[in-house]
Amino acid sequence: MIRIGIILGSTRPNRKGPQVAQWVLDTAAQRGDAEFELIDLREHPLPHLDEPAPPMFGPSVHEHTRAWAERIAPFDGFVLVTPEYNGGVPGVLKNAIDHLCAEWTDKAVGFVSYGVSGGARAVVQLRTVCGTLGMADVGYQVAISVLTDFENHATFTPRDHHVAALNKTLDQVIAWSTALAPLRAESPVTVG
Ligand SMILES: Cc1cc2nc3c(=O)[nH]c(=O)nc-3n(C[C@H](O)[C@H](O)[C@H](O)COP(=O)(O)O)c2cc1C
Repeated sequence: MIRIGIILGSTRPNRKGPQVAQWVLDTAAQRGDAEFELIDLREHPLPHLDEPAPPMFGPSVHEHTRAWAERIAPFDGFVLVTPEYNGGVPGVLKNAIDHLCAEWTDKAVGFVSYGVSGGARAVVQLRTVCGTLGMADVGYQVAISVLTDFENHATFTPRDHHVAALNKTLDQVIAWSTALAPLRAESPVTVG
């Protein structure tokens, strides 16, 4: 079965991200057409990129990079759950992406963003980053407002149109992850 990693891209104290990522996981788990797993960047602390060779030329020398590569390699596709910081991608998420290369290539990716204006500017940047890595970014996306979709600015209260948008996004991520399987089979990733 296709395996989809749901990556939570914020790590700060008091972050809103876990509520959004858990909703993505809970909604996805009801589908039955793929396996889904939550990947919290807090559980994979990485320094600012400190590998002597760029990831596309590997191999990685640091244990933290190899552990991150082993976490990401088995997945066929991803959903990136991202806030928007200062009009762009959170540094911690960009750094985690930059640590790897082959582990992302020929995999599908969808986006769930949140922010004052839905976090859409972070997704625009992530589409460029992911495309550069040879990922297939799907057209549907979910945009959540931290002003109107959190009760008392604290509790995430997803609406029906969010659920519909998430399922459309997951439909495409799963379909494209499946379609790209022959390309991944041509060049299997070896970590280390
Ligand atoms: C450093 C920083 C910069 C932010 N910049 C933006 C921004 O440019 N656009 C926006 O919509 N929200 C912005 N926000 C508000 C965040 O969308 C909001 O705090 C959200 O909860 C952040 O996600 P998190 O709680 O999971 O970290 C910013 C928040 C922080 C901490």
